[in-house]
Amino acid sequence: MNNHDPQMRPVIRQLDEAAANRIAAGEVVERPASAVKELVENALDAGAARVDIAIAKGGKALIRVSDDGCGMAAQDLPLALARHATSKIDGSDLLDIRSFGFRGEALPSLGAVGRLSITSRAAGHDGAQIAVTGGRIGPVKPAAGNRGTMVELRDLFFATPARLKFLRSDRAETQAVAEAVRRLAMAEPYVGFTLTDEDEGRVLFRADAEQGELFGALQTRLARVMGRDFIDNALLIDATRDGITLTGFAALPTYSRGAAVAQHLYVNGRPVRDKLLTGALRAGYMDVLASGRHPAAVLFLTCDPHQVDVNVHPAKAEVRFREPGIARGLVVSALRHALAGAGHRASTTVAAAALGGGAS
Ligand SMILES: Nc1ncnc2c1ncn2[C@@H]1O[C@H](COP(=O)(O)OP(=O)(O)O)[C@@H](O)[C@H]1O
Ligand SMILES: [Mg+2]
Repeated sequence: MNNHDPQMRPVIRQLDEAAANRIAAGEVVERPASAVKELVENALDAGAARVDIAIAKGGKALIRVSDDGCGMAAQDLPLALARHATSKIDGSDLLDIRSFGFRGEALPSLGAVGRLSITSRAAGHDGAQIAVTGGRIGPVKPAAGNRGTMVELRDLFFATPARLKFLRSDRAETQAVAEAVRRLAMAEPYVGFTLTDEDEGRVLFRADAEQGELFGALQTRLARVMGRDFIDNALLIDATRDGITLTGFAALPTYSRGAAVAQHLYVNGRPVRDKLLTGALRAGYMDVLASGRHPAAVLFLTCDPHQVDVNVHPAKAEVRFREPGIARGLVVSALRHALAGAGHRASTTVAAAALGGGAS
């Protein structure tokens, strides 16, 4: 492994803040879509009712996220850019996390690898702006604006050219950004979202804020994001066991896909790609799906935050349940139960295809 001469003792040094932030950025921000995810999550944590996102060149040239949330006061701006500075936890209980963010890493990381500016105004305060480029933080300046925050990130990874080389085409990065926005929008039906491509001046995604009771709002939002077809062919899931609740929609077996592309799982509102849960999803459909077919479902697990550790993955995409068997059992049994009750229902798409010979 190492070919150091044992006589030559290597020097241990403390890396400077900029280097530490670039390293953290390597874990947290893989590509423009991860930056968008972090910024939109910050907007949601700030209680935004509306989040507008603009990108250029797949997010490589520009990512701008504007929200109407609580905003920040001028004196908070340098702190927001400091490592491990967060308003969301006090550090006393890492198993009591009720927000998307809690590590205070996203903004300093983004400021270390791109040109970041934050313009914000909190109620009762004057607006202010701060900029950071490749880790160098500028002064706080007065700025105009409505209540809320606008974060602009230009030239992502200009400070880390190696990472820049790994990015894919503008088109592929745009798609990944849109997917990240859709995933968050599915879980937040009461928040309005737009995603605009500034190169083409085109709105790529739009979902207006829903109103009314949760299931209705969720249903309308999912129809918007997943397509009307999905909702028309989906069963309502609503089950509770041992303090864990599973809600959402799971599609009929006849509406399955050739790949696992339409599976969206959330734990306490957070999108996750969790092996335990995807395995449970597959197991729930096992008796009704041919091999090679994949279920389509949007499922939300809700539990006391103490039942699940979200601090196990740099991008928080994975979680660890205190009692994995309960979570898995709930998913499997709720799906089986719903699917058994719907044995007679055929997918509208399949019925339409049988009549017209269209859908795939
Ligand atoms: N859109 C926003 N609106 C209001 N405050 C924000 C926003 N984005 C960031 N902040 C503030 O900056 C802090 C640091 O943000 P971030 O680096 O993403 O860390 P975290 O989200 O883990 O706290 C947040 O805790 C919050 O107080
Ligand atoms: Mg954050």
